[in-house]
Amino acid sequence: MAILVTGGTGFIGSHTVVELLNAGKEVIIVDNFSNSKPVVLDRIEKITGKRCKLIEADLLDYDKIENIFKENKIESCIHFAGLKAVGESVAIPLRYYHNNITGTLNLLDIMSKYGAKKIVFSSSATVYGKPKSVPIREDADLYTTNPYGETKLMIERILSDLYNSDKEWSVSILRYFNPIGAHESGLIGEDPKGIPNNLLPYIAKVAIGALPCLSVFGNDYNTHDGTGVRDYIHVVDLAIAHLHALERAEKVTGVEHFNIGTGVGYSVLDIVHAYEEAIGEKINYKIVDRRPGDIDECYADPTRAKELLGWQATRGIKEMCRDSANWQKNNPNGYDS
Ligand code: UFG
Repeated sequence: MAILVTGGTGFIGSHTVVELLNAGKEVIIVDNFSNSKPVVLDRIEKITGKRCKLIEADLLDYDKIENIFKENKIESCIHFAGLKAVGESVAIPLRYYHNNITGTLNLLDIMSKYGAKKIVFSSSATVYGKPKSVPIREDADLYTTNPYGETKLMIERILSDLYNSDKEWSVSILRYFNPIGAHESGLIGEDPKGIPNNLLPYIAKVAIGALPCLSVFGNDYNTHDGTGVRDYIHVVDLAIAHLHALERAEKVTGVEHFNIGTGVGYSVLDIVHAYEEAIGEKINYKIVDRRPGDIDECYADPTRAKELLGWQATRGIKEMCRDSANWQKNNPNGYDS
C-alpha cells in the first residue's frame, strides 16, 4: 500500500519523501511542478538509494488524479500541494482559492471514493493570525490576514466537516511554524523562484553575493532586540513529524491539530548572527521600515505533538544555519546549478 505525497518535489515535500523512503515506505509523488523541478527526484535517489514513482499532474485535473487511485493501491496521503506566497495571494486571490481549495476538494472526493481515508495536511501557523499571547497553543483563536492563510484555515474546516460526516477518516493537521535549513547532504533544499520573500533564503543569497544586502523589516517591535521573533524549525525535523503523524493516523480516527515548531523564538538579528557564525563571515544588512502585515512574535507551544505524536525537534539554530548555507553553497542557482 502506497502513500500519495502531493507536492512531493517541493521544499518540505522532498524532505518528507526522503524520510518516508528511509523508513521503508512506498511513496508515490504527484506534483505539477508549478514551484519545483523533476530533478528533485534524482537528488532524493542520491540520498536514499531509492527511486519512487513521480506523476506529473495537477490536483485540478480530477480525472488524472482519479486514474492514479485506479492504478495504484493508495491508503493515505500527505497533502503539501498548494500555492503559498502570502503577497501573491493578496494580488491574485481567486487563483489561490481555486487552486488550493478546489484542488483539495478533488483530492478528498477521490480519496473517499477509493477508501483512502487517512490524510496528513500541511497547514501553517498563519491560521493564528496575530496571536494574543505566546507560546501559541492549538486551541488559540483562529483568524487569518490574507487569502493564502484563509485557504489553509478553510481546508482545516473542510477536513473537520469531512470527519464529522464520515467517522472512518483520520485527519492530522500539522501547523508549521517557520521551516528553514536543508538536508545535511546539501542535495535538496529551498529553491524559491526569483527574489526570496522569506528570511533564510534571502540571507543565503546575500551570503553568496547573489544579493547585495538584507533588509531587516523593522527594529521597533516589542521583542528583545526590536526585530521580529519567529519559531524557526529545521525542515528535517518537520519532515520527521509527518512520519509520526502518519503512524498515528494508522492507529486512530478523528481530527487532530498539532503545532510543529521548536517552542523557541529567535529574532531576525539572532538569525543573522547565527548565520554569520555558521559561515564565518559577516552578512550585510540594513534596518528598514516594517513589512506590512508582520507581527511582533510568533512561537509554538509544541507540547501536544510531543505527547500525542512522540515527536519533538532535535536540531537547533546552529544546524539550521549550517545546512541552509551548505545547500546554498553547493547549489548557488538552486536546482539549476
Ligand atoms: N524578514 C526580514 N527581511 C526579509 C524577510 C523577512 O527582516 O527580507 C523578517 C520578517 O519581518 C519576519 C521574519 O523575518 O520578522 C520572518 O519572515 P519570513 O518572511 O521568513 O516568514 P513569516 O514569519 O513572515 O511567514 C512564514 C511563512 C508563511 C507562514 C507564516 C506563519 O512564510 O507562509 O510564516 O507561520 F504563513
